[in-house]
Amino acid sequence: MGEEEDDNIKVTLLGSSGVGKTCIIKRYTENSFDPLNQATLVSSFSQKEVDIDGKIVPINIWDTAGQEQYRSLGRLFYKDSRIVILVYDITSKESFLDIKNLWYNDLTTYGEKYTVTALVGNKSDCYEKEEVEEKEAREYAKEIKAHFFLVSAKTGDNIELLFTNLVKEYLGPEFAAKMKEINNEKRKNEKISNKVKQKKKGCC
Ligand code: GTP
Repeated sequence: MGEEEDDNIKVTLLGSSGVGKTCIIKRYTENSFDPLNQATLVSSFSQKEVDIDGKIVPINIWDTAGQEQYRSLGRLFYKDSRIVILVYDITSKESFLDIKNLWYNDLTTYGEKYTVTALVGNKSDCYEKEEVEEKEAREYAKEIKAHFFLVSAKTGDNIELLFTNLVKEYLGPEFAAKMKEINNEKRKNEKISNKVKQKKKGCC
């Protein structure tokens, strides 16, 4: 359980119950939002193809249950994860303290293969009820060397950007440079083929 069955990049979301992990995944994979979403039992998994500069990269996204009784089981799912997203709810100080006191410790203890981490404050649409200051969260993200994003699964704000940026980061700068080269080459070929077509048109 929790072992990668294929070459897809494994991404896992961690955080306390109710922070919106399932809703973030549903917004990203189905572009939908359920205001009455039920708590996850143990874990679930979704697939998505990420378009990185024209190259399709398949990822597996694992949703873990935030409830205390499932915490130890969740470890099986992120142990071999390459990208881990730590989620808190900006309207709940407790959920942010849980990242500091529980989830990040768990990750550093049991995560074996992660190379990219993000700290994500969800429910940015509820900023008027904010209990966690962005500045404090950003500083903590810096301390643990995590990328930082404020998102809203409800409005979709920054959700696409979150996943795309993390996958790009995981693939590394060489990949980005290679993609640029491929795209430039593609554009050059398109230009040549357009010129050839135009010339042919001229003859007839
Ligand atoms: P567990 O499965 O128990 O670990 O919870 P979870 O982190 O997966 O939370 P879930 O996605 O089930 O969301 C919990 C509640 O927060 C639901 O009622 C959602 O509708 C609500 N919610 C999730 N994301 C947002 C958001 O961006 N904005 C607002 N306003 N509500 C949200």
